[in-house]
Amino acid sequence: MEPLFLTACRGLATPRPPIWLMRQAGRYLPEYRELRRQVTFLELCKTPALACTATLQPIRRFGLDAAIVFSDLLVPLEAMGLRVEFTEQGPALPEPIRSAADLARLHVFDPLQATPFVGETIKRARDQLDATPVIGFAGAPFTVATYAVEGKTGKSFLETKKLFYREPETAHRLLDLIATATRAYLLAQIAAGAQAIQLFDSWLGVLGPEEWDEFVCAPTRDLVAAIKSAGVPVIYFPNGATTILDRIARIEADVYSIDWRIPLGQARARLRAGGAGTFALQGNLDPALLLAPPLRLRAQIGKILEEGAGTGHIFNLGHGIYPETPVENVELLLRTVRG
Ligand code: CP3
Repeated sequence: MEPLFLTACRGLATPRPPIWLMRQAGRYLPEYRELRRQVTFLELCKTPALACTATLQPIRRFGLDAAIVFSDLLVPLEAMGLRVEFTEQGPALPEPIRSAADLARLHVFDPLQATPFVGETIKRARDQLDATPVIGFAGAPFTVATYAVEGKTGKSFLETKKLFYREPETAHRLLDLIATATRAYLLAQIAAGAQAIQLFDSWLGVLGPEEWDEFVCAPTRDLVAAIKSAGVPVIYFPNGATTILDRIARIEADVYSIDWRIPLGQARARLRAGGAGTFALQGNLDPALLLAPPLRLRAQIGKILEEGAGTGHIFNLGHGIYPETPVENVELLLRTVRG
């Protein structure tokens, strides 16, 4: 029988929504913190035996309906030629791309040569799982570009916007280059066994509709099309950008991952208004609700289950789980979704 997650990805209703959680392998899990004590974060990403252990930890503990390969959004940027560090304050790229001259330092890469550990982790995870599907992922071109240009997680994203407004040609070339590299990177994940791909556009919400149309839509749509033609469903996460879901529909993803700022019913209507055909929705519990009392948490889960009915629905959070989340609340979430 096809796993619930893959059925839902095709836009079909399932007896109950499959559930997985963005950033499900991470610091809220005691077993992850234990693993992390032994190695740096990048060593963990680059050692397939350890990355596979991290990938499987939330599956072994909770029996979630999909695993996501343990890696990071910045792994391909390092392979493209940028120095990437992880500090207490988050990621740091000390030599960011701010001009056409800087762009010459970035190049496409062969995933089998530069990032073989990602495919190796996927293979190991597939070998050790029975039916649970494995999701591969990458950042979407815009979100990866913000890291290349800002050199860290942005706040105002002013460096990125300055590049867009003052050097639009350079911005287009940067996004195209990232999209080209990401395409090979994701096709290698699919060749290694990834059964679905999620594209994280975590910071898309800082753009207006004109910037989406002018810079972001085309490279993102082409990347989605390339992955779909490899035969696996694509989940697109346009975080914070629900106001432009009608325009986002043009990328023709199989699944749209929705944040908590809009009810799923309204998200579905906006996507349909934009001409979306068959699609599924993923989401959309505010991860902060996993820090709320059970009554409030259960009430919101109930609303999401009602809103989700009507298309394929994959239950998920509206963004990544917080490190301070109590494991008991994740268990409560799973019990409630599974009825
Ligand atoms: O979902 C999973 O469990 C798979 C693993 C995964 C990680 N990062 C591991 C990680 C995934 C899918 C990501 C994606 C990622 N990385 C995104 C997109 C998702 C999102 O949250 O919007 C982004 C923006 C990044 C970049 C990144 N990596 C940041 C901003 C940080 C620091 C903030 C933080 O959460 O610590 C990281 C580090 C990171 N990536 C950790 C993990 C488990 C924590 C590092 C540690 O163990 O010390």
